[in-house]
Amino acid sequence: MRLLVCGGAGFIGSTFVRLRLREYGDDVTVLDKLTYAGRRENLHDVIDNIRFVHGAIEDPAAVGAAVIECDAIVNFAAETHVDRSISGPEAFIITNMQGTHVLLEAARERGLRYVQVSTDEVYGSIDSGSFTEFSPLQPSSPYSATKCGADLLVSSYYHTYGLSTTICRGSNNYGPYQYPEKLIPLMILNALAGDHLPVYGDGRNVRNWLYVEDFGHGISYALAHGAPGETYNCGGPDECENIDVVRQILSLTGREDSLIEYVKDRPGHDRRYSLASDKLRALGWTPRVDFHEGIARTVDWYRSNAWWWEPIRTGEYLEYYERHYGRALKP
Ligand SMILES: NC(=O)c1ccc[n+]([C@@H]2O[C@H](COP(=O)([O-])OP(=O)(O)OC[C@H]3O[C@@H](n4cnc5c(N)ncnc54)[C@H](O)[C@@H]3O)[C@@H](O)[C@H]2O)c1
Repeated sequence: MRLLVCGGAGFIGSTFVRLRLREYGDDVTVLDKLTYAGRRENLHDVIDNIRFVHGAIEDPAAVGAAVIECDAIVNFAAETHVDRSISGPEAFIITNMQGTHVLLEAARERGLRYVQVSTDEVYGSIDSGSFTEFSPLQPSSPYSATKCGADLLVSSYYHTYGLSTTICRGSNNYGPYQYPEKLIPLMILNALAGDHLPVYGDGRNVRNWLYVEDFGHGISYALAHGAPGETYNCGGPDECENIDVVRQILSLTGREDSLIEYVKDRPGHDRRYSLASDKLRALGWTPRVDFHEGIARTVDWYRSNAWWWEPIRTGEYLEYYERHYGRALKP
């Protein structure tokens, strides 16, 4: 298949590119703006086997140049960090909503298959049970609200123009190449450095963890077998409180629990996410990596790949960290 992967230099997009080259032999073009979270280093081992276009999804000229000779668009490109959406929502509106609109127009003009990569956060928080694809959309943050808006726009292009769209909503991903502002890499790198581990609120927020390659497989099932106009949840096999995630990381890195430091909670912090993925499982998908195995693999990867994360823990990231947590990061 000839795929345009938007946001393919990010965490999940780069994993997807690697997986599609390895397991499907696809012809891949990546379109990426290379924001702070997108890095050529994420594609270091496959860069010679793809076409890379540096540009923004909200720029019709860049999209037009990238989409040439593609059969399908898979859109990962997004501003993705909830904390940054609280302090500066504008970029989220431009990329997540306006950018999605430009991609949908490009797909409509050329009659391309379109897959939107989305998130469980569009459903908001759930105390018990799990969200299905029919659950109401109740986003809590500017991040999830803009992802939700994009999903609705995608659905409208199916209903109005007959575009062959599919939405795939993943639960919290973790694994190699994730930017260190997110919970798991933040805790791993701080633990490796012997720094404090800042845990929001009481640490009892529950997330439904999904190993990143399993999400890549889930999106592939939705692309290949998903019915046009449908949405598929892709939830991980395990749920875990943040504090238990942190304790497992401390144990895997040989550090003491005394490094844990509870900090002021994030405004509007969703308590629990949980996805029912029966619809995607009915297409043949199943997650292969449980949290116990996935977190051990992830800690090993960060321990062995300082070349990847050392350059990040300078400049923009240090400034962001200090502004956000009110203290400097230990080098
Ligand atoms: N990380 C998760 O746990 C998770 C879970 C479910 C769904 N998702 C969704 O998966 C997608 C990828 O998430 P991620 O964690 O890999 O994010 P990420 O922040 O690591 O990567 C985002 C990528 O998009 C690129 N990008 C940002 N703005 C762009 C623009 N305007 N034009 C072109 N490229 C742009 C960035 O440069 C980067 O390469 C997002 O749509 C996100 O909403 C993420």
